[in-house]
Amino acid sequence: MAHIAPSPARTPRRFLPQGPLRGRIRGPGDKSISHRSLMLGALAVGETRVSGLLEGEDVLATAAAMRAMGAQIEREGDGTWSIHGVGVGGLLQPEQALDMGNSGTSTRLLMGLVASHGISAVFTGDASLSKRPMGRVIEPLSLMGASVEASPGGRLPLLVRGAHPAVPITYRLPVASAQVKSAILLAGLNTPGITTVIEPVPTRDHSERMLRGFGADIEVEEVAGERVIRLRGEADLRPQTIEVPGDPSSAAFFMVAAAVVPGSDLIIQNVGLNPTRAGLVDVLRQMGASIEELDRREVGGEPVADLRVRHAPLTGIAVDPALAPSMIDEFPVLFVAAALARGRTVTTGLEELRVKESDRLAAMAAALTLAGAQVEETADGLIIEGTDGDPLAGTACDPVTTHLDHRIAMSMAVAGLASTGGVEVDDTSPIATSFPNFMALLDGASQ
Ligand code: S3P
Repeated sequence: MAHIAPSPARTPRRFLPQGPLRGRIRGPGDKSISHRSLMLGALAVGETRVSGLLEGEDVLATAAAMRAMGAQIEREGDGTWSIHGVGVGGLLQPEQALDMGNSGTSTRLLMGLVASHGISAVFTGDASLSKRPMGRVIEPLSLMGASVEASPGGRLPLLVRGAHPAVPITYRLPVASAQVKSAILLAGLNTPGITTVIEPVPTRDHSERMLRGFGADIEVEEVAGERVIRLRGEADLRPQTIEVPGDPSSAAFFMVAAAVVPGSDLIIQNVGLNPTRAGLVDVLRQMGASIEELDRREVGGEPVADLRVRHAPLTGIAVDPALAPSMIDEFPVLFVAAALARGRTVTTGLEELRVKESDRLAAMAAALTLAGAQVEETADGLIIEGTDGDPLAGTACDPVTTHLDHRIAMSMAVAGLASTGGVEVDDTSPIATSFPNFMALLDGASQ
């Protein structure tokens, strides 16, 4: 089957201590919402307009795939995009393999879309994505009638043959995953009848919010402590004008940087605070961080605020595992905060971190240890003894290994700001998947 795309050249960098972070910054648009606005825009009939779209490599992979399946997608200016969709049921057979790059979200959600159309598509990705498990979407999509030929272990490259008509299912998520939930709902859009997803643990609900905004018939109900989501298929989606709010997962690096670097006082504008995403703010506050919400408002149907973060001493805590889904991408940078806090931070229930862009428990344990932190890796978390505010030593000869994982690179960049000698990161190129101007903002905010 198709090849694994070669990795681009490595770009190492040493992140040095740079002084306090001050002033105002505005991070990029939300990655999850950007993917979904392109996908649903491509399924609506008429023009969807999107502003604030994240123009990172992951989202561009989604745009290219939707174009390859017939949508007209144009970039009009900085973050402003126009999409003319094909209508639900109208996706065309792509002529070539869909290259998903590093993006698990593109892969899993698009597998859902293809699964209920009468087309087939080959999905390929980089070395990181090709290690990630796809069985979690293959199982429900197969129950809906799609057939999937995957590489050993249910991995990429793989071929999805859609079923048309597909069969509606009722599916209880065995892992807390918004990607799996969304893949099933997107498949359900072109499936006759009602597709039901049951979530024992709530995960980010951007798909549900946006499907409702596009006029889909979707109901969310809480039954015996579980979220039950029902979507009526063969939907007609109405084109929308969407303003994408800022990504809390990208803002997270600046929240932690301002919290740990003495003298910092930083305003991060336009941060999405959807409760299914905002767990890091709660946890940092529990550790003693000073985070103020200014000008709470709604952007694109999502709660948003500007966050003022001032340096304050942090104290280690036992992080409630129930918060994990609402901050699943923020643990790498939380571990950096923990490494600089007073006392011990204990995290548990984080098995899912082992199947992200890298094994984030192993990668962060190794990276922080190399930078001088005291870290113990357990089966489902890290136990970190903090320095009580003292800077980390930083890395000596060997750089930390990012394993093609943007969030490892950015987390260790933050660790470098709070170190004596700086932290050398082996490869900053993955940062472009989610936060293309990260380094420019970091250099600009540090005085
Ligand atoms: C995402 C869901 C999460 C998250 C990922 C984006 C989404 O993955 O880690 O970065 O947009 O639905 P899981 O569904 O695997 O938890």
